[in-house]
Amino acid sequence: MSKTVTPYNDATRTKKEQVEEMFDNIAHRYDFLNHLLSLGIDITWRKKAVKFIGTIQPKKILDVASGTGDFAFEALKLNPEKITGFDLSEGMMNYGRAKAAKMNVSNIVEFVKGDSEKMPFADNSFDAITVGFGVRNFENLEAGLREMHRVTRPGGKIAILEASQPQNTIIRALFGLYFGKVVPMIGRMFSKDARAYSYLPESVAAFPQGFDFIKILENIGFRNIKWQPLTFGACAFYSMEK
Ligand SMILES: C[S@@+](CC[C@H](N)C(=O)[O-])C[C@H]1O[C@@H](n2cnc3c(N)ncnc32)[C@H](O)[C@@H]1O
Repeated sequence: MSKTVTPYNDATRTKKEQVEEMFDNIAHRYDFLNHLLSLGIDITWRKKAVKFIGTIQPKKILDVASGTGDFAFEALKLNPEKITGFDLSEGMMNYGRAKAAKMNVSNIVEFVKGDSEKMPFADNSFDAITVGFGVRNFENLEAGLREMHRVTRPGGKIAILEASQPQNTIIRALFGLYFGKVVPMIGRMFSKDARAYSYLPESVAAFPQGFDFIKILENIGFRNIKWQPLTFGACAFYSMEK
């Protein structure tokens, strides 16, 4: 089990409380910083994941840890009946709701507040699930993954994107410099949250990578799990079925 890294290192509050507060704090800059710090490449990662779930033409999609909804909006191209964005942070989802209204898709993309470790959805109620850069923030990783498994219908597809560390030593060193020094500096400048963008590399370093994460997914009961490093391993794409 990886050690628990929390946003504000505050022993008096749960990780969940701190994660919610952090995302509420940075919500106004989240989309801008996301695209800036990833040089816009995060958009291609979500496209790839949406293509994977698209193979079963899902009608009901759940976007776990949806934040401002970028994954949910990408999934619109699959013409589903409903996409539910689910997140702890109202601050993040309010930006998602505003984007949905602007795109005139509020009847298809809805945002629901809640905890992924205890979801208010029936068993087998979604055809597909997406999670972008969310699982690393769960307080109890296994509980969140078990819930995702429970609410997916048999045969449904799940796509998880998570930030990761490149395996090649040289790229990893360069990436470490960018991710460990440049990202926190730019993040601090724009988001005005001194911790949020230091928590990012710390939480990535503490999260199970590659085959370690696959083992956890297998134990939960997911099938046909595949792991694909994207952009030199800066992002990991895990695809699977229930
Ligand atoms: C880095 S953002 C990712 C947003 C979006 N998925 C994307 O691809 O850009 C992580 C999101 O996970 C949410 N989150 C973290 N733990 C959660 C939990 N236990 N239940 C629901 N949402 C959670 C946070 O509130 C935050 O909005």
